[in-house]
Amino acid sequence: MAVRNVKPLGKFRGTLVLVGSGKMGGAMLEGWLERGLKPKQISVIEPQPGKTLKALARRGLKLNPKGKPLAASAVVIAVKPQSAPEALPSVATYVGRSTLVLSIMAGRTIGFLEKSLPSGTAIVRAMPNTPAAIGRGISVAVANANISAQHRKQSSNLLAAIGKVEWVTDEALMDAVTALSGSGPAYVFLLAETMASAGIAAGLPPALATRLARETVAGSGELLHRSDVDAATLRQNVTSPGGTTAAALEVLLGPGGFDRLLTQAIDAAARRSRQLAG
Ligand SMILES: NC(=O)c1ccc[n+]([C@@H]2O[C@H](COP(=O)([O-])OP(=O)(O)OC[C@H]3O[C@@H](n4cnc5c(N)ncnc54)[C@H](OP(=O)(O)O)[C@@H]3O)[C@@H](O)[C@H]2O)c1
Repeated sequence: MAVRNVKPLGKFRGTLVLVGSGKMGGAMLEGWLERGLKPKQISVIEPQPGKTLKALARRGLKLNPKGKPLAASAVVIAVKPQSAPEALPSVATYVGRSTLVLSIMAGRTIGFLEKSLPSGTAIVRAMPNTPAAIGRGISVAVANANISAQHRKQSSNLLAAIGKVEWVTDEALMDAVTALSGSGPAYVFLLAETMASAGIAAGLPPALATRLARETVAGSGELLHRSDVDAATLRQNVTSPGGTTAAALEVLLGPGGFDRLLTQAIDAAARRSRQLAG
């Protein structure tokens, strides 16, 4: 299923520790290997390793290593936010003076991570999204004050394995980021579901309506991805004055319409993100 634009991982020296190799951690691991990281450079801590991890262990990857941990070049934390208190003590054992800690846990702030890790640790908090599974995610990253230019580059390279990377300097923006791009794939999937239901209501057989909605959302996303023009222009390109699309857009952009609803939805998600972060 790969649609990856494979770039080498840059010069990654030393070892990388991945804590939690589920959906997101597994996608990152796959991306790093594709970009030339050697299995023997990687340690993975994962309570229930699947077939892929076991096969990688036969190629030199260290799976749930025992013994005294050595300081890693980078530790990536990809466990669920609720598993953080349990996972962080083992993360701390891999942290040396120049180790980068990159966390993708939703809602776990830099302040929270700093409390659980040795003082002076270089920390990057990032929010990816699920198209990461095909290397087409987008992550937004924010760093603490201990980060060097080298750490920043290393973080960008590690995150580029699952898609594009943006940086912000104000951590407070991460709630809006979570609401827009973190949760955003769900809004797009809902669009496909709702278009299918509306097509059925308009008289189409269910299977055909589902296929039409799915391909329309996927194809339009791909067109937007490949196109040099912005979304508004692509929308105008399918809208002739007085035509069918114009009739639909009049409803969607009317009072209480799509733009209003989506603004409210993203606001609700950002508020929830702030509540969860405490
Ligand atoms: N999925 C998304 O859309 C998305 C988007 C943005 C950010 N994120 C963030 O990415 C992180 C991972 O999400 P995910 O969807 O990949 O979750 P996931 O599939 O549940 O992966 C988490 C993995 O960590 C393992 N784990 C649990 N406790 C651990 C411990 N103490 N030490 C090491 N590994 C441990 C879990 O194993 P068990 O299954 O055995 O517990 C599981 O394999 C979350 O913090 C989430 O907030 C996810």
